[in-house]
Amino acid sequence: METSLNPAWQMLDMLPTQRPQGDEVWVWSFSTLGGSFLPALEALLDDREAQRAGRLRSNRAQAEFVSGRGLLRLAMGKILGLPASEVRFGSVGNGKPVLDGSQTHQELHFNLAHSHGMGLLAIASHAGVGVDVERLRVVSDQVSLAKRYFHPNEVAHLEMLQADGDRLEAFFHAWTRKEAFLKATGTGIGFGLDRVEVTLGPEVTARLVRIDESEDAAVSWTLRHLEPGNGWMAALALKAPCGRLVTSHVDLGLIAG
Ligand SMILES: CC(C)(COP(=O)(O)OP(=O)(O)OC[C@H]1O[C@@H](n2cnc3c(N)ncnc32)[C@H](O)[C@@H]1OP(=O)(O)O)[C@@H](O)C(=O)NCCC(=O)NCCS
Repeated sequence: METSLNPAWQMLDMLPTQRPQGDEVWVWSFSTLGGSFLPALEALLDDREAQRAGRLRSNRAQAEFVSGRGLLRLAMGKILGLPASEVRFGSVGNGKPVLDGSQTHQELHFNLAHSHGMGLLAIASHAGVGVDVERLRVVSDQVSLAKRYFHPNEVAHLEMLQADGDRLEAFFHAWTRKEAFLKATGTGIGFGLDRVEVTLGPEVTARLVRIDESEDAAVSWTLRHLEPGNGWMAALALKAPCGRLVTSHVDLGLIAG
């Protein structure tokens, strides 16, 4: 798969040793394809991660898992001043990976996502984050899927869009924004995609509109629309302001070498 990366995102040559400052959020994209960097990243995983990687059936899923966890370990290790293989993780909610808090006195949050060979890692210091990325692809039954999983207002909005391309794009707006929100909370999709209403459609800024029909519950949330590469859509969510969003591409071959 050829991916042309978003040229507005900077190339990150070296991993930072400082955490994001204030209400800054970093989002890094990485390609999990190519594979020559995989053994070096695999060597950083702990026993549980290595077992999990071994249980994944497809090569693509293995590469996504090893790349994401390997980069995460390298990034957290740099910031915490620890060898990457010694960084410890726990989980909250329905399995959201988090740093084991005994390694740092200051907050440090992250979230990973991957889809079809593209990975994203979001890092923030001031609030928990959620990120989702999706390969834009034809979804022939998008309106029936939306009726099953989305909020009725989102379905109505999708049905209003005449052009197939606009409707498909709006479908992925909703999908990525909802999933980023659910990942920020740590609940995952078990929470119910239809309990969250987001903006969608061309030229509408990403925003969380309602949670359980409450606009008040949604106001403290920030959603950001992201385009890491041509043919990809992503979203970032956090229950806090996002003052400065720093978006970068990471070449795993360079970083893992
Ligand atoms: C979190 C979830 C939405 C991710 O969906 P996905 O599209 O398959 O995967 P993504 O690429 O977006 O994200 C995967 C990453 O999210 C992170 N993650 C896993 N569970 C998470 C959770 N509950 N909250 C936030 N992030 C989570 C992991 O880092 C994972 O990558 P890794 O396993 O390689 O480390 C989905 O797995 C989920 O809902 N899990 C919770 C379990 C659950 O509630 N199941 C409901 C059954 S109805």
